[in-house]
Amino acid sequence: MSLFEKIYQDFPMLQTKMNDKRLVYLDSAATTLKPKSVSEAITKYYENTTCNVHRSIHSLSEKTTIAYEKTRDTIHHALNSKHREEIIFTKGTTESLNLLARSLGDFVLKKDDEILLTELEHHSNIVPWQLCAERTGAKIKVLPIDDNGDLDLSKLDVLLSEKTKIFSFSGVSNTLGTINPVKEILSIIKNKSSAYTILDAAQMISQRDIDVQDLDVDFLVFSGHKYYGPTGVGILYGKKDLLEMIPPFHGGGDMIDKVTFEKTTYNDLPFKFEAGTPSIASVIGLNHAFEYVKSLGKQNIQEYTSSLFKDLKSKLSEIEGIKILGNPKKQAPIISFVFDKVSNQDLATLISMDGVAIRTGHHCTQPLMNVLGVSSTARIALSFYNNQEDINILVNSLKKAKEMLS
Ligand SMILES: Cc1ncc(COP(=O)(O)O)c(C=O)c1O
Repeated sequence: MSLFEKIYQDFPMLQTKMNDKRLVYLDSAATTLKPKSVSEAITKYYENTTCNVHRSIHSLSEKTTIAYEKTRDTIHHALNSKHREEIIFTKGTTESLNLLARSLGDFVLKKDDEILLTELEHHSNIVPWQLCAERTGAKIKVLPIDDNGDLDLSKLDVLLSEKTKIFSFSGVSNTLGTINPVKEILSIIKNKSSAYTILDAAQMISQRDIDVQDLDVDFLVFSGHKYYGPTGVGILYGKKDLLEMIPPFHGGGDMIDKVTFEKTTYNDLPFKFEAGTPSIASVIGLNHAFEYVKSLGKQNIQEYTSSLFKDLKSKLSEIEGIKILGNPKKQAPIISFVFDKVSNQDLATLISMDGVAIRTGHHCTQPLMNVLGVSSTARIALSFYNNQEDINILVNSLKKAKEMLS
């Protein structure tokens, strides 16, 4: 069995039909498909090992708690965090960023302090900071991109000052595919300011190995569902001393040490930030996603998808009337484009008749759309379960749809 045949068997969604055609799934930046091992682990939890974690001492709970905590170990090793309790389970990237805006932002920011973001950010790395700025009186500054869609690092000199207290940025753009030079950026920020650094790794997690100690980043966030895992679980990594310094986000069960009506003291890390019953099945399922990617090897995945992407980009650029947005120095297999006088919505609807699933819209990056001078784009995002045939079907379908619509 070839590797692709094995992958085809491992991902039941690849055998799904859309409009009676083989599904060509090209929307992996929105969410990735899941291997069978992930859904089987979830079903097993619901059918055989349902119980709450950390609370009861019966052996079922003990077993489930071990499976749940194993995911923390896996992620602790995968990210090379110094301490396992630096890995916090949240609902996803969005919740992790809201947690940071509340617990870190409200704690450290004073009136006229500055939060530095970039033009590439997803709404979930903008809106929580705007809410935080309203509460604290802090101001938001924005690092621009250049014409290729790369961050213009030369502007950092002007933008950074002693007022910059938080710098939050994405490692990989979900709209243009820009792979930012994360280590270089973090080192500039550390040298020129005392800002706390936050890396939105929602897209980067599936594209690059991440070593949080090597990067020396203060906080890092991502979602399980963009890494072949279930929805409803995400990660917040934070340096231990910083997580100990900031107050909790949500209050409730599990995050407490002692509660009286007068005062509550909080549990140790990581539980201080994990109030209430978590997404137990999703956390357990996420471990299987990490194992699956490890079995393929991220480097192999990257080499395979880069070569497929190169072919896709060259075939797309040959289609008459297409305008590809951005041309970053390093690009993940994510690409945005528009056609003159063709509605993106109509285009996506037509090609879905051929079984092709792509994303259209603003991709939750409206400020970036303004910079690019468009209101929406069509976006293709590849993964290791795509192949050459997918590219051919897409390109033929796009050409056909464009002819019909223009
Ligand atoms: C770069 C980036 N940040 C944040 C998010 C938000 O992730 P979620 O909706 O899983 O919380 C996304 C989702 O597309 C993203 O691509």
